[in-house]
Amino acid sequence: MVGPMSVAAHPRVVVHDHPLLHHKLAALRDPHTSTPAFRALLGEVASLMVWSATVDLPTREVAVTTPLERTTGRVLDGPITVVPVLRAGLGMSEGVIRVLREARVGHLGMARDETTLEPITYLERLPPDLHAGPVLLVDPMLATGGSAVAAAQVLRRAGARDLRFMGLVGAPEGVQHLLDSDPEITIHLAALDRQLDERGFILPGLGDAGDRTFGTV
Ligand code: PRP
Repeated sequence: MVGPMSVAAHPRVVVHDHPLLHHKLAALRDPHTSTPAFRALLGEVASLMVWSATVDLPTREVAVTTPLERTTGRVLDGPITVVPVLRAGLGMSEGVIRVLREARVGHLGMARDETTLEPITYLERLPPDLHAGPVLLVDPMLATGGSAVAAAQVLRRAGARDLRFMGLVGAPEGVQHLLDSDPEITIHLAALDRQLDERGFILPGLGDAGDRTFGTV
């Protein structure tokens, strides 16, 4: 059976364990947290997670002249693309580009049909050379995994090679679905929650991140 323990141990899954993330996540789960606070916290969590999600990005050596002498430095090798899944992913991509100013932003619009739970793609706007560098797919929620799987397929078809998913909370079922559907993607989460309920909501979760980010509850 798929559970938090089994997917957490998977070599392509990283559950970020840091006191600042725990602290912010507790506030994000609280239904009394206001929309402005939720939006700010979501961006802050994303900024913090970038550190670990990019720890193995390729770099190349360059010559640098300091005010005192010549030396060498390292810069990121190839363009980085952040792709938020609309709407809720926008709250994370803002936090990512705050600390990763070099990144381009592609957009994927996906909504989950609340009856069938199947994702519907309504927008696809991506840079033409996705293959040239790492692609960071961001969406706070990984529930059934349907949206993330569909988004990863779109990005692979568009040329993405080094593909990383970064989310806030994931359900074991959705994490396993994404791992099974894409044999190379890595998955970064702030929390791996217990399970999905019968409506496909993550438990304990934090409700609908898109609605809470944009005040459409
Ligand atoms: C939510 C969430 C993910 C998706 C997760 O989006 O932001 O994109 O559902 O569910 P899944 O793993 O079962 O596919 P939603 O459809 O609510 O759209 P929104 O971001 O516009 O609110």
